[in-house]
Amino acid sequence: MKNAFKMKMEDGLAIITFDHPTEKVNILTPEVMEQFSKLLGKLEDKSDEITGAIIVSGKEQNFIAGADISVIEGITDAGKGKELGSTGQEILTRLEELPFPVVAAINGACLGGGLELALACSRRVVTDSTRTFLGLPETQLGIIPGFGGTQRLPRLVGIPEALKMITAGSSVYPRKALRIGLVDEVVHPENLMEAARSLAAGPRPRKRKKSLSKRIRATGMQILESTSFGRKKIFERARKEVRKRAQDHYPAPLAAIDAVEDGYLHGIDHGYDTEAGLLGEMASTEISKNLIRVFYLREMFARGDTSPAETMSNLGVIGGGAMGGGIAALGAERGFKVRLIDMSTEPLGKALNLLSKSVSKKRKQGRYTGVQTTWIPTRLTVDTQMRGLSRSDVVIEAVAERMDVKKTVLKSIADAAPKDALILSNTSSLSITEMAGAVPTPSRVAGLHFFNPVDRMPLVEVVKGDKTSAKTVEKAKAFTLRLGKIPVVVKDRPGFLVNRLLLPYLNEAARLLEEGAQIESVDKALIAFGMPMGAFILLDQVGLDIAAHTGMNLFEGFGERMAPSPILKTMMDAGRLGKKTGSGFYKYTDNGDHKKDPALDELLSPLVQESHDFPDEEIVDRLILPMINEASLCLAENVVEKPEEVDVAMIFGAGFPPFTGGLLRYADKIGTDHIVNTLDKLADTVDERFRPSDYLRKLASNGKGFFD
Ligand code: NAI
Repeated sequence: MKNAFKMKMEDGLAIITFDHPTEKVNILTPEVMEQFSKLLGKLEDKSDEITGAIIVSGKEQNFIAGADISVIEGITDAGKGKELGSTGQEILTRLEELPFPVVAAINGACLGGGLELALACSRRVVTDSTRTFLGLPETQLGIIPGFGGTQRLPRLVGIPEALKMITAGSSVYPRKALRIGLVDEVVHPENLMEAARSLAAGPRPRKRKKSLSKRIRATGMQILESTSFGRKKIFERARKEVRKRAQDHYPAPLAAIDAVEDGYLHGIDHGYDTEAGLLGEMASTEISKNLIRVFYLREMFARGDTSPAETMSNLGVIGGGAMGGGIAALGAERGFKVRLIDMSTEPLGKALNLLSKSVSKKRKQGRYTGVQTTWIPTRLTVDTQMRGLSRSDVVIEAVAERMDVKKTVLKSIADAAPKDALILSNTSSLSITEMAGAVPTPSRVAGLHFFNPVDRMPLVEVVKGDKTSAKTVEKAKAFTLRLGKIPVVVKDRPGFLVNRLLLPYLNEAARLLEEGAQIESVDKALIAFGMPMGAFILLDQVGLDIAAHTGMNLFEGFGERMAPSPILKTMMDAGRLGKKTGSGFYKYTDNGDHKKDPALDELLSPLVQESHDFPDEEIVDRLILPMINEASLCLAENVVEKPEEVDVAMIFGAGFPPFTGGLLRYADKIGTDHIVNTLDKLADTVDERFRPSDYLRKLASNGKGFFD
């Protein structure tokens, strides 16, 4: 490989440009690290002549995106993983020990090993571009930072802030980076090199730049951090928080805390060694392999071709409720001129508010510039009349979930918008094919099923009706990508993909309740399995009205195996719709907490048998295995084409736990033969609805998994 580093000298100042010759982004492969080590050799040799150095990226949009994930993926031996970490650490320690100031001049993403490299520099200056952010996302891949990040970051920004960044794997934007002391300066991109030059001309900072009291003032660091007793408390608290969030399914954040603590207990050199050892341990776990797989899946689906939507600039949204308001706000933030129409003014006001709140939040985080903060809200205009759509490139409806209403609205859209505009529906359960019949050219109608809440859920199902053209699908996919969401194309069958898999799961929870299971025990078993929340909490969040409605729809579409539990309708009729009405399967306090509701027993007593305990394993089998069975039917019916699509959709649309690698990856792990046997047993002993599909049976009898 050609050298990724170029160095030129300017009066004693070494300017080093990192430009990976074969990758779009700068990544730290072992070969690149080797080249960097040689470069350091030159700098060391010439250290008498050099007065300072600047490291800058040759790529327009990123500084360094991190280490090479495929190398980490290939690690199966903890010892090899440790070696990788130790080698990287040694190289970066040599960088840190250069006798002149070295400045990292950062524009664009500075992640993982990239930030670790920047941390080993004596100074960091970043641009205020919205594309600039810094973070250590390793724990999201099931590993820990291994090039010294767990040691240098806390010493620079304080332990609490460092633990937050490392355990969540989240990034910080320039203004926050400055506030916490991660960077020394934030400048306009045009001034990056000038600022770097002046920092490189200054003195090489001592390791502890500021006095403790100054650092406390500058970073909001807790005084606790200065004593060993205080630090112990900080680490304890961090572990508790991580356990609450991730339980024991994600060992990497806890390992990262161990590495940070070790450096404080036994000194930084010991800390480096522990860090490398834990990197090796984590990198060789199955969990890390699964998380890396999810990362690749996300890349694969979220990085598609946006060109079919490149010329789109005007978006119309009809219906400004929970979903329409969210879609309109998202569109405006993503650069579209949005016209939002609702027949009543209240939702319109809420949508405007939603956008301005989101913009100010991002301004505070440093993700938006002042200009963006002013301009983005002006992109959203609202109206109570169906007008202002004559220049729309794409119009999406999110009105009430009723076929007659949707048809009328679609027809008005077709009348008001240009003849080639894309017409989309956010329906969660109605047939796109039937709806499209209301429009003279149904080929340009597709479903675009967002998940709630729109700003947080990454998945969008692109629903292809019988008459939807291939071009419409391509455009809808590209539009989804421009909104920053992950599109999965699905066929127009009841429930599409995610709801078709999720509803039987939720329904089964209600069935268990009928048979005498306890709400809390079911939810506990699912959380222990790794689901982000229990099925009953999820039902309360989705809303019992929506669950009952979608459940009926699936029952009509697929018959007996989807027969809804009578509990759902009873709850709906009693007005216990879930969180939004303050009570559902749980009772909700004003601040959103939930607790057991004794009043529920009376309501449900005619429907439920005497209470008894179900083993966790049975609960999990009864809820999770039918999802796998339903997924196999979706593949057989070409609702989606590939098992990868099921995994992406369930992780990013339904929160299926990423550490499993995905629903069907999990299925392959436990084995299709085991699944078929268990489902057959459940069908024989509980109900025919569990009977495995022919597709699943065939996989099992051929000794195959979904991905074979
Ligand atoms: P919502 O009830 O919050 O909002 C619907 C809005 O449409 C209301 O503001 C109403 O005034 C307006 N509206 C009704 N008829 C109209 C018409 N003819 N012209 C203009 N505006 C009209 O409902 P939500 O939850 O936002 O749902 C909207 C759509 O999104 C439905 O099709 C629903 O199935 C779907 N959806 C809902 C999800 C959810 O979790 N709430 C998730 C995914 C899809």
